[in-house]
Amino acid sequence: MTQITNDTINEIRNRTDIVSVISRYLPLTKRGKNYFGICPFHDDHSPSMSVSPEKQIYTCFSCGATGNVFTFVSNYEHISFIESVRLLGEKLGYELNNNYHVETKNPDYEICSLASKFFQNNLYTSLGKNAMDYLEKDRKFDKETIKKFELGLSIPKLSVTEFLLNKNISLDKLINLGISNNNSKDIFLNRIMFPLHDLKGNVVGFSGRIYNTKDNSKYINTKETEIFKKNSLLYNYHRARDYLKKNESIIIMEGFFDVIRASTIGVDNCVATMGTAFTTTHANLLKKITDNIILCFDGDKAGEEATISAINVLEKVGVTPKIIRLEEKDPDEYILKRGKDSFIQKVNNPISTIEFKMKLLKSTHNLTDINELSKYIDDSIKELSKTKDDILVELTLKKLEKEYNISYDILKDKYNKYQEKIVNTNKIILNKQINTNKRMTKYELASKNLLFYMLKNSDIIAHVEKKVSYFPTEELRMLSNEIIYYYHKYGTLEIADFITYISLHNNLFELVKEILNMNLKDKYTIEEINDYIKVINSYNKDNQINKLNIKLKEETDPLKQAKILKEIMELRGVK
Ligand code: CTP
Ligand code: MN
Repeated sequence: MTQITNDTINEIRNRTDIVSVISRYLPLTKRGKNYFGICPFHDDHSPSMSVSPEKQIYTCFSCGATGNVFTFVSNYEHISFIESVRLLGEKLGYELNNNYHVETKNPDYEICSLASKFFQNNLYTSLGKNAMDYLEKDRKFDKETIKKFELGLSIPKLSVTEFLLNKNISLDKLINLGISNNNSKDIFLNRIMFPLHDLKGNVVGFSGRIYNTKDNSKYINTKETEIFKKNSLLYNYHRARDYLKKNESIIIMEGFFDVIRASTIGVDNCVATMGTAFTTTHANLLKKITDNIILCFDGDKAGEEATISAINVLEKVGVTPKIIRLEEKDPDEYILKRGKDSFIQKVNNPISTIEFKMKLLKSTHNLTDINELSKYIDDSIKELSKTKDDILVELTLKKLEKEYNISYDILKDKYNKYQEKIVNTNKIILNKQINTNKRMTKYELASKNLLFYMLKNSDIIAHVEKKVSYFPTEELRMLSNEIIYYYHKYGTLEIADFITYISLHNNLFELVKEILNMNLKDKYTIEEINDYIKVINSYNKDNQINKLNIKLKEETDPLKQAKILKEIMELRGVK
C-alpha cells in the first residue's frame, strides 16, 4: 500500500492521458489542437467542452467547468478528489491507501495539534474526573467515542499556555491562534474541548462547552484567526468525507453532540455548522463531494426555520436536499430515546423538499375553509414548479387531484404558468450576473488578467513577485501567494498539477476556474503585463485618494479642507 502524496498524484496525472480518460465517459472529436465534446456538467446541446492534450486540462466555455483529469472524474462520478486519484491510480497498477499525506505543514497546525493533545490528556487526569463523568454518565458517551472525536478538557490548573510557552512557542503566536490572552492566561477555562479541523483534517481551532454549571455561555469558539475561518468549515467534514462512498449522502446537523451521537450508531456521514447559519460557502463545500445532502436539524421551530433557509441556500447552488424532521429536541435526544433502528429508518427515508414544504403549508392553512384550501393548493403548486424532478411533479399533481378532487388539467395548467414565470426570472438572473461581471472594478479585472498569465507562463510569476505590491482583494492576494509559493517549491508551474494542488489545499479553485475561463489570448507582450501591474499598483493610491475626496466633500472647515487637498495632491504626485 502506498501513501498518497503530492508526488504520487502528479506522477499518476503525468502517466494518465486526459483525452483517453474523458473519452471513456463521452465521445470527443478532434478539431485543431484540441478535442471537443458535450459538457456533462450542464444541460449542453452542442459540444462546448474542449480538452487540451497539451495542457491536460478541460474547459467548458458555456458553464465554466474546468480542471484536470482528477477534477473531471471526481465531478463526474461524484467522488472526492482523492478517490479519483485512487481510481485512476489503480488503473495504472498503483495500490494506494486512504490517506492523503500532507507534506507541507504550516507550523500553526502543529501548535493547535499539540494544544489539542494537551486538552485530551487533561480529561484523563484526576482533575478531569468530573468532566469525564459528565460525558460518560450524563451524556452517555463511551470512551471509544470520546477518543475518536478527540474530546478534551481545559483546566486552569493545567494551563495549555504554560505548556506551550515551555515548548518555546511565543506568547504572540498563542494569542494569534486564540489559545491565550495578553496576560499569558488560557482563553478556555473549565470547558469540554472539541478540536475543530479544517477540510484536510488539521486542527485549526476549538470549541469549548461548559459542563456541570449553567452560569456561562454554553459554547465558546476560537476567534477568527489566519487558519480558523468558521464560516468556511464544517464540524466533522474531514471524517465524514472519508465515509462518503459514491452516491452516499452527507447529513447536516446543528450540534457537535448530534454528530457525535450519530457516529455511535454507525451513521458517520454527518457534519455540523459551528453555531452559525448554513451559508453558500458551506453549500459549495458539500456540493464538491456530493449532490446527495440531507438536512437533519433540531426538532423545534428554530430547526424548522433553519431547514427552510438551508434549503434556499442549497437550491441557489443547484442542489435539492432531502429532509429529516424529528419528533424530539435534536438528533442526539432522538437516538437516545428512540434508538438506532428508528433513526436509521429516518435516514433511509428522508422526505423531499416539496413534501416538507407542503407539510408546512398544510399546517399554516385551515383546509376546511374553501379560500384557504385554494390558496394552499396554489402555494403548493408554486413550490412544486421549482423542482426539476419530473416524476415528483407528476406524482404530486396526481396526489392533489385525488385528495381534493380537482381536475388534473387545471392543476397542470397552473403548474405550467408558474414554470413559465420561473424560466423568465432565471433569464433575468442570468442577465444580472452578466451585468455584475461587467461591473468588476478595473483593478480586479487587471488582477485576474495578470493571474491568468501567471498560470500560463512561469516567467511572469517571478516578474509579478518583484513588481506587484498588493492585489486588491484578499482572495486575489491569496491566489497570487499560492502561485508564487508553488513556483518556488517546484521551480515551475504546470497548470494541470497546480489544479491538483489548489483543489487539495484551499477553496481557491473556484477563482482559478473563473480566471482560466476568461479565455484570453495565449500570446501577450511585456507591455501588456506591465500595464496590468500598473493598474493593480495604483489601487492603494486610488483608494486613499477616493477616501480623501469623500472626506473633503464632508469637511466644512476651509483650513482642514486645504490640508486634505494637499494630501490628495501629494498622492497624485503633484507638488
Ligand atoms: N453553539 C454556539 N454557541 C452557543 C450555543 C451553541 O456556538 N452559545 C453552537 C455549537 O456549535 C453547538 C450548536 O450551536 O454544537 C448547537 O447548539 P445546541 O443545540 O445548543 O448544542 P448541542 O451541541 O446540541 O449541545 P447539547 O446537546 O449539549 O445541548
Ligand atoms: Mn442541540
